[in-house]
Amino acid sequence: MEERVVSQEALGAEAQLEGSIRPVEFSQYIGQEKVKENLKVFIEAARLREESLDHVLLHGPPGLGKTTLAMIIANEMGVSIRTTSGPAIEKAGDLAAILTALEPGDVLFIDEIHRLPRAVEEVLYPAMEDFCIDIVIGKEATARSVRLDLPPFTLVGATTRAGMLSAPLRDRFGVHLRLEYYNEAELSFIIERSSELLQVSMEKDAALEMARRSRGTPRIANRLLRRVRDFAQVQGDGKVSKELADNALEKLQVDKLGLDHIDHKLLTSIIEKFRGGPVGVDTIAAAIGEESNTIEDVYEPYLMQIGFLIRTPRGRMVTPQTYTHLGLEVSQDE
Ligand code: ADE
Repeated sequence: MEERVVSQEALGAEAQLEGSIRPVEFSQYIGQEKVKENLKVFIEAARLREESLDHVLLHGPPGLGKTTLAMIIANEMGVSIRTTSGPAIEKAGDLAAILTALEPGDVLFIDEIHRLPRAVEEVLYPAMEDFCIDIVIGKEATARSVRLDLPPFTLVGATTRAGMLSAPLRDRFGVHLRLEYYNEAELSFIIERSSELLQVSMEKDAALEMARRSRGTPRIANRLLRRVRDFAQVQGDGKVSKELADNALEKLQVDKLGLDHIDHKLLTSIIEKFRGGPVGVDTIAAAIGEESNTIEDVYEPYLMQIGFLIRTPRGRMVTPQTYTHLGLEVSQDE
């Protein structure tokens, strides 16, 4: 089992940079206005009642700030956060060890909670509901179950797929929040904030262009910023102008809508190999050499959001907009 309590020195330079620009309170967190507004009320109410915050389920596409929000929740509640993930907790005992080490009020953040093994999930039910766990001591004939009380805590679960969570687990979260893709203004603001923290001088129209190509996703915006900063440092005068950003983004193979070479490969493969679809996701995955899960979690949601891909009962299909964007003719032989 791996619990991510990592010292700053042990992190790579990129991860350190990411940590240094991560917002730590609501006032620094841009966008997701409805989510913030609701969370602030729930946090204030819990604080007034001197209770732990009810369990929170965050869902939405990757890179929209679920981990950041979990950290902000802990910070605003004035408690510590323990971070782990569904696949990292292999056995019921692993989870028991984490739960019994919590301090009253702590936040336990489980990323990719839809990937928790079923036996582990079952330990979580009484822990969430009654703040206790039943552990089995001894073997076979001498085995007996002992109930252990836990301190009150808040579970913050994050998932890219709310539909893959079992109903009993989903129902035990008192707060369900869905994160949405960010708009260009919000992303532009995030890029400007991050550039200031990284001491990169950035023109407004450069920030807006990068925002347009960030697929509604702050993690992508911040990644593009770091790469564009590299170009500015090596090939420019350190300043990010619109022209420098455009050139850098072209070299990074990020197109005007933020689609990268994998998006292009996915879409052109549906068009060229499967006559525009419908085609099953596993078939697409095999054709382009990517994991089906990665396609479903990372690539598809944005392509569907911008209307380039549709899901039908018989599989995925591209749309006329896809052909236009790729500069291809819609095939006539259908
Ligand atoms: N960095 C990543 N996500 C952010 C957000 N929502 N607000 C500010 N900075 C961010």
